[in-house]
Amino acid sequence: MAAFVLLCLVISTLKQAGAAPGPSLAGHHSGSNTTFKEAATGQPRTDAATDQQHAAEREQQFLSWLSQEGASFESIRLGRSAAGLRGVFAAANLSKGDLLVAVPHHVILKLPYSSNDDFCEQGEALMLALLQRDPAHVAHLDVLPTLEESRMSPDTFHLPRSYWKLLQSEVAESFILNQRAALLQYWRRHQQRLQPLGASLELLRYTLWLTASRTFNYNETHFSLVPLVDMTNHVNGCPTVHSDKPCPNNPSETCFIIRAGAAIAAGNEVCNGYGYLRNDEAFLHYGFNLDEQQAAELLFVVDRHDASMEALAGVGYRAETRPPHFFRTRAALQAEQQRLQRRLQELQRGDAKAGSWPRALQDSSGVILQQLLQWRRLRQQAITNELARLHDALLELHTGGNDRSTASAAAQVQQRTARDEL
Ligand SMILES: *[C@@H]1O[C@H](CO)[C@@H](O)[C@H](O)[C@H]1NC(C)=O
Ligand SMILES: *[C@@H]1O[C@H](CO)[C@@H](O)[C@H](O)[C@H]1NC(C)=O
Ligand SMILES: *[C@@H]1O[C@H](CO)[C@@H](O)[C@H](O)[C@H]1NC(C)=O
Repeated sequence: MAAFVLLCLVISTLKQAGAAPGPSLAGHHSGSNTTFKEAATGQPRTDAATDQQHAAEREQQFLSWLSQEGASFESIRLGRSAAGLRGVFAAANLSKGDLLVAVPHHVILKLPYSSNDDFCEQGEALMLALLQRDPAHVAHLDVLPTLEESRMSPDTFHLPRSYWKLLQSEVAESFILNQRAALLQYWRRHQQRLQPLGASLELLRYTLWLTASRTFNYNETHFSLVPLVDMTNHVNGCPTVHSDKPCPNNPSETCFIIRAGAAIAAGNEVCNGYGYLRNDEAFLHYGFNLDEQQAAELLFVVDRHDASMEALAGVGYRAETRPPHFFRTRAALQAEQQRLQRRLQELQRGDAKAGSWPRALQDSSGVILQQLLQWRRLRQQAITNELARLHDALLELHTGGNDRSTASAAAQVQQRTARDEL
């Protein structure tokens, strides 16, 4: 029961602030023509080129449909990032405050859930919506990332078992185990009711992943998928502004509106964000690495002095962006420095094996493994950056006071840091 509560608490906490990051996938898998049901039953698929063409056609149908329904999105277009991720891009040079997307409320897919914390229930609601294919929303449902794509995601529910050791973190492994136990428990409890409707554990895993990365809280009883807005990708500190206002094309209806929170040059991506994600949260909850600069900015949750499953579950440190403010004394700063130096060495030793780790059966292309190796690099960079901050904090203590023992301790630490870097 505790596990279940944790799971549900977790992701709804991340969702509270609103929007969701876009698909967390390697782009080459985008666009199979496999319908949800075909994928679920393992019927044959068409080849990749045909898939891509069909995906492009579905995107066109989706945009025509949205337009007919009264949405406005003249200043943006759909595209792919350098990394191959589908996203929303500026079609012109945009200024702060410019309208990006206005979506009438009647096209928003609203799905019920009975309690704020029940994330598995939300996955179930989306699974049933996909199986039912409501004609009023089918154009939208058809452009959601596919089941195939979810299998390439390194998130908690999809990271192959044989890769867990590469996380080199007991906290992360416990977190995954806990989340999966919660999912299994939910499935066992509801299997008899859900199976006759076409549901399966795999589909539930897929829709949980979709729910985590693409839904908004709508009101106390419903969560929602907002067409087009759900294709924007997460960036920490994204300035995009959301509001509910009269539709530009029809003031008698309310629209979900997003506006540029800062100037966006033509061709640049329109982001989305909900507070501050550390890279291991982005990876385990949604299945993507942040860009290098953002990822290495702060210590991963798993490397913090107070790392815990609960912290990783997102109950933790969203607002705190400037460590190491919790270490104020010389002794505490030094202890933290030594702890992180040991951690970095353990990871560096692990790299030898990680480099030749065998691919998991379900990761024959190696896409998941690549993302995990990148995660390890980013993690080490984040530790290195934290060590530099600790080093500065020690120097500051030294110059701030005229305590001799502080000064010599700082010098020793400096020497040790230099030695360890060799
Ligand atoms: C999917 O492929 C089939 C043929 O393989 C085609 O008839 C159908 O129109 C395609 N569906 C979409 C939505 O592109
Ligand atoms: C956007 O602005 C840049 C620099 O001001 C200019 O070179 C470019 O042509 C503009 N692009 C569009 C699509 O207006
Ligand atoms: C939430 O939205 C749904 C869908 O529009 C609506 O049926 C429901 O009454 C709303 N609930 C509350 C508490 O406003």
